Amino acid sequence: MKNNLSNIKKAKIILDKHDCIAIPTETVYGLAANAYSNNAVKKIFKLKKRPKHNPLIVHYSNLGDLKKDCHINDNFLKIFKKFSPGPITYILNLKKNSKISKLVTNKKKTLAVRFPKHTLTKKLLNLLNYPLAAPSANISSRVSCVCSKDVKNEFGNKIKFVLDGGRSLIGLESTIISLTGKPKILRLGGLEPSKINKLLKKNLKLKLIASKNFFPGQMKLHYSPGIPLRLNVSKPKNNEAYLLLKKKGKYNKNFYYLSNKGNLKEVAKNLYYTLRKIKKLKFKSIAVEKIKNQGIGKTINDRLLRASKYHG
Ligand code: TXA
Ligand code: MG
Repeated sequence: MKNNLSNIKKAKIILDKHDCIAIPTETVYGLAANAYSNNAVKKIFKLKKRPKHNPLIVHYSNLGDLKKDCHINDNFLKIFKKFSPGPITYILNLKKNSKISKLVTNKKKTLAVRFPKHTLTKKLLNLLNYPLAAPSANISSRVSCVCSKDVKNEFGNKIKFVLDGGRSLIGLESTIISLTGKPKILRLGGLEPSKINKLLKKNLKLKLIASKNFFPGQMKLHYSPGIPLRLNVSKPKNNEAYLLLKKKGKYNKNFYYLSNKGNLKEVAKNLYYTLRKIKKLKFKSIAVEKIKNQGIGKTINDRLLRASKYHG
């Protein structure tokens, strides 16, 4: 506990100097910097090798702060009250007098905002007098990191500090909902659209593939472990790492179980962690067992499908 507090203070000192650090969230780790500072935001793009046209998510700890930067509406308030803090990102209209750096949004008039639930990051946000721009803490187009060790491996000594908050509980990124017009889902994630449908009493449209590939989270190839990945495999090849839903059959050293008994939440939590582990072990390819397209299984399949577009 004492350690956490001194780490949060250390994080604040670095952020106040307009540098980037990694922060834990319940979805995945984020590469964070002062969203009001051009200098700080520039460092995120550089470190992540992120194309400048790809806007960032800004993280807040409370509604009052958000209202300084964005226009809110009834749909937002309804969803916010029920599901934030948590694994959901809202696209809202930016206020004209907002202090958000133009580099965050690539001069667009909308902003992606999120209220993370992780205790350390909530505490950190409460100490700061600016919100945190934070994309997932990985080099662009790769698999997100769900633990501090993976972030350190990803960036080496280029990253000044990683606030260690243990393994991310959800293990997949947030769901993105656009609320600037008719509500629609832009990215599947940790919160199932069916839960939002129930709350709003309507069937939200899914718009998961961008026209002109504008938003990379919607790109056909993304979330890639950097080696080929095959889906719906019942017989893996020799030397292939094989990801299975649950423990069964004889032990095989190339088999990796994503859960004990097939619980999809557990599968989600272990997916990116296991993909990174397999890559480190120098496997040349990955085969994945069929995963039920239900609940969070839809997000898992969305990510696996995009990862499977990698062909070396
Ligand atoms: O769980 C998460 O959302 C994590 C944690 C760290 O919060 N963050 C994350 O950020 O996944 P990132 O940058 O890896 O993915 C954000 C996605 C990108 O695909 C980006 O194009 C999209 O959000 N995005 C950002 N601003 C947008 C906007 N104004 N309109 C539509 N999409 C936007
Ligand atoms: Mg990302």
